[in-house]
Amino acid sequence: MSVSLGMPMIPGVRAQTPPRPTTAPGLLDKYGRVATDLRISLTDRCNLRCTYCMPAEGLPTQPASSLLQAHEIGRLARIAVEELGVRQIRFTGGEPLLRKDLVDIIAACAALEPRPEISLTTNAIGLSSRAAALKAAGLDRINVSLDTVHADTFLAVTRRPFLDRVIAGIDASAAAGLTPIKINAVLLRDVNDFQAVELLTWALQRGHQLRFIEQMPLDADHAWERGTMITAEEIRGRISELYTLVPDEEPRDGAPAELFRVLSRENGTDLGTVGIIASVTEAFCADCRRVRLTAEGGVRSCLFSHTETDLLTPMREGLDDRGVADLWRDAMWAKPKGHGLDTGLFVQPARSMSAIGG
Ligand code: 5AD
Ligand code: SF4
Repeated sequence: MSVSLGMPMIPGVRAQTPPRPTTAPGLLDKYGRVATDLRISLTDRCNLRCTYCMPAEGLPTQPASSLLQAHEIGRLARIAVEELGVRQIRFTGGEPLLRKDLVDIIAACAALEPRPEISLTTNAIGLSSRAAALKAAGLDRINVSLDTVHADTFLAVTRRPFLDRVIAGIDASAAAGLTPIKINAVLLRDVNDFQAVELLTWALQRGHQLRFIEQMPLDADHAWERGTMITAEEIRGRISELYTLVPDEEPRDGAPAELFRVLSRENGTDLGTVGIIASVTEAFCADCRRVRLTAEGGVRSCLFSHTETDLLTPMREGLDDRGVADLWRDAMWAKPKGHGLDTGLFVQPARSMSAIGG
């Protein structure tokens, strides 16, 4: 079942899509891309209110009965890994640490064969007391959203005074071996953009990999503006004022971040790596290997999709694994070529980031 999310379905579009070859084993789309990287949103709730994502008053949340339960997540992950060739699983939200059963969900995924790489995108609030248990359950790595190391700026961006808890979460994760730790930062003009280099220095000193993400039009307030967003080019320029950036030799391999070595300007010492995710100005759709499941069990073939394919209802109605895998393959086959964010024709999806899963 495919549900439209606020965007009218264009009659005839489906008919033009060539039929999916029934012999293709993995999550193939009609442009030849194969998704092996699955992002599973565990909840649409969050304890922060980042301005580029949520409105100040929050968003209506789904009742628990509409969300995937732990055993349903385990089943979908098994189908993804065993039937559909998924090799990496990343848990997202909202804020995935708000799921009390996170350890059980991770343990179920860690028991799959072949063992997928398991990571978590989190705001790190409450992570300090859970990092060791998550690592023991099989979590390999974390990505922490952190846009500033100044308490007042943190409050301005997230509308919550929790910087200390986030730092404590990052430190505990490093101690627990959830490394390398990636830090995701979104730069907002006149809010934290002028702190970009300072944030990078902070991350380099701790051995964390900072990744700047261009702000995308996925905010519930619809305040995103192409004209004022901080572009990848601007970010590279700002970093180059203090450091020398050298493109990383490693093949990018479908990863969204373009990686650079950061060298000291004084003596050329290699200080670490920085990533820049230029989703808007240097789109990487042609190499995309990602597929998403919403917290309600909907397949989104793209972050910017206007449609979802509901897997949870047919699963609860008794559909077998093979049927679920086929629905999933059909959803991927229809993956759009690209989001067209920089074309002027882009229409923002009805769901905001917290309701999709990053
Ligand atoms: N643009 C870019 N990144 C965003 N994130 C949330 N909303 C946006 C947006 N509008 C980031 C968060 C988090 C990741 C899941 O996505 O900072 O790190
Ligand atoms: Fe929460 Fe992440 Fe959205 Fe911030 S960006 S409000 S941490 S879901």
